[in-house]
Amino acid sequence: MTMISRMAFLVLALAAVPAAAEQSGKDVYGKVCATCHASGLAGAPRYGNAGDWAPRVAGGVARLYQSALNGTPKGMPAKGGNLALSDAEAKGAVDFMLAAVKDAARPAAAQAEPKKAEARKDEARKADTAKDEPKAAPVPAAVATTSAATTEVAAAAPADVNSFNRLLKPVSKRNLPPPEDGIHDPSSDGTHALQPPLTAFGPLPKSNAGNRINWVEALNQKKLNPRYDRLDPKAEPVVMDLNIVREVKGSMPDVVYPHKQHTEWLDCSNCHPAIFIPQKGANSISMAAILMGEKCGVCHGKVAFPVSECRNCHSKKKELAVRPAAAEPAK
Ligand code: HEC
Ligand code: HEC
Ligand code: HEC
Ligand code: HEC
Repeated sequence: MTMISRMAFLVLALAAVPAAAEQSGKDVYGKVCATCHASGLAGAPRYGNAGDWAPRVAGGVARLYQSALNGTPKGMPAKGGNLALSDAEAKGAVDFMLAAVKDAARPAAAQAEPKKAEARKDEARKADTAKDEPKAAPVPAAVATTSAATTEVAAAAPADVNSFNRLLKPVSKRNLPPPEDGIHDPSSDGTHALQPPLTAFGPLPKSNAGNRINWVEALNQKKLNPRYDRLDPKAEPVVMDLNIVREVKGSMPDVVYPHKQHTEWLDCSNCHPAIFIPQKGANSISMAAILMGEKCGVCHGKVAFPVSECRNCHSKKKELAVRPAAAEPAK
C-alpha cells in the first residue's frame, strides 16, 4: 500500500467522525422524540414496544429514516418537529429506538410465534421491573396475565390517552420535566414555565409507587394546600368519613374504600353517579375492570397510586373462622 492511499483513507475516516456538537441518538430521543414515542401519544409507535414497531420495521429501515426526516401524513412531524436537528441526528434517534426493539427485526418469526413474542415482552417487562423497582412486591401470576391482556388492548388503540401510566415506568421515564412527559404540550410557553416534578416533589413524603409521593400523607401533614374552587380561594371540601368494605372472594384481603381520603381531594360528582351508583354493593367492580381503566382504575394508575399497590386497597384481613364472634371489634 502506498503512502498516498493510506493518507486518503485517513482523511475519509476523519470526515466520517461526527462534528463535536452532534447529539447522540439517545439524547435526541430524550429531548425530542420521547414526547410522543415514550407514551404512544397520537398513535406514535412506543419506545421498546416490539409489537408497535414490528410492522413498521418490516417495510425497511430506509423507509423509517425517510419518515423521521420528512414526517408522515398520520402525525409524525418532520424531524419530530425540531428542524434544527441534522439528518444524522434524526437518523441516530431512529437507530436508538430500533435498538430497543431488536426482536421486531424478525417480524415473520414473531408472527409465527405470537405466544413466544408475548412471553419475551413479559420477560422484558419483568426484567425492567426487577431492575428499576427493587422494592416493589412481586405481582401475582393471575394479575400479571390480566395486565398483559391490558397491554394488548392498549397496543390496539394506542391513541387512547388513558393508556398512559398503566404500567410501572422505569425510573428514567418517571417524573420527566413537563415538556418531555408526553402529557403537556411542548409547544406551549406555559409548559416550559411549569416546575419540574422532581423539584416540586422534593419536600413531600415519599411512597414506593406511582410518582413516588404519598399524597394522602402529604395532605395530612399539611404540606399541601389544595384549592377546592377555581374562583373561590376560601372554598372548603365536603369531607365524608364513610368506609365501604367490599368483600373479595378467595384469599385476597377485602377492599376498604375510604370516602374520607377521597373527598379530601375530590368532589362527590367526580364519582357519583358517572363511575359509581352511590349505594353500597350496587356496583359490580372487578380487578379486570380496574386494570382496564374503569371503576377505581379511572384514577388509580393515572392520577392516584397504581394498581400494583395491592395492599393499599386490599387492606382488611379476612375474618378467621376460628376467631370467636365476641372478639369482633365494634365498628
Ligand atoms: C409530536 C409527536 C411526535 C414526535 C415529537 C416524534 N414522533 Fe415519530 N411518530 C409520531 C406518530 C404519531 C407516528 C405514527 C405516524 C404514522 O403511522 O405514520 C410516528 C412514527 C414514527 C416512525 C415510524 C414511521 C413509519 O413510517 O412507520 C419513526 C421512524 C419515527 N416516528 C421517528 C421519530 C423520531 C426519530 C423522532 C424524534 C426526532 C420522532 N419520531 C418524534 C409522532 C411523533
Ligand atoms: C372516588 C370516588 C368517590 C367519591 C369522590 C365519592 N364517593 Fe360515594 N361511593 C364511592 C364508592 C366506590 C361507593 C361504594 C359503591 C358500592 O359499594 O357499590 C360509594 C358509596 C356511597 C354511598 C352509599 C353508602 C351506602 O352505605 O350505601 C353514598 C351515600 C355516597 N357514596 C355518597 C357520597 C358523597 C355524599 C360524596 C361526596 C361528599 C361521595 N360519595 C364521594 C365512591 C366515591
Ligand atoms: C375519581 C378518582 C378516583 C377513583 C374513581 C378512586 N380513587 Fe382512590 N384515590 C384517588 C385519589 C386522588 C387518592 C389520593 C392520592 C393517592 O393516594 O394516590 C386516592 C386514594 C385512595 C386510597 C388511599 C387512602 C390512604 O389512606 O392512603 C385508597 C385505599 C383508595 N384510593 C382506594 C380506592 C378504591 C378501592 C377505589 C374504587 C372503589 C378508588 N379508590 C377509586 C382517586 C380515586
Ligand atoms: C385501587 C384499589 C385496588 C388495588 C390497588 C388493587 N385492587 Fe384488587 N380489587 C379492588 C376492588 C374494588 C375489587 C372488587 C371487590 C369486589 O368484588 O367488590 C378487587 C378485587 C380483586 C380480586 C377478586 C377477583 C376480581 O378480579 O374481582 C382479586 C383476586 C384482587 N382484587 C387482587 C388484587 C391484586 C393481586 C392486586 C395488586 C396487584 C390488587 N388487587 C390491587 C381494588 C383494588
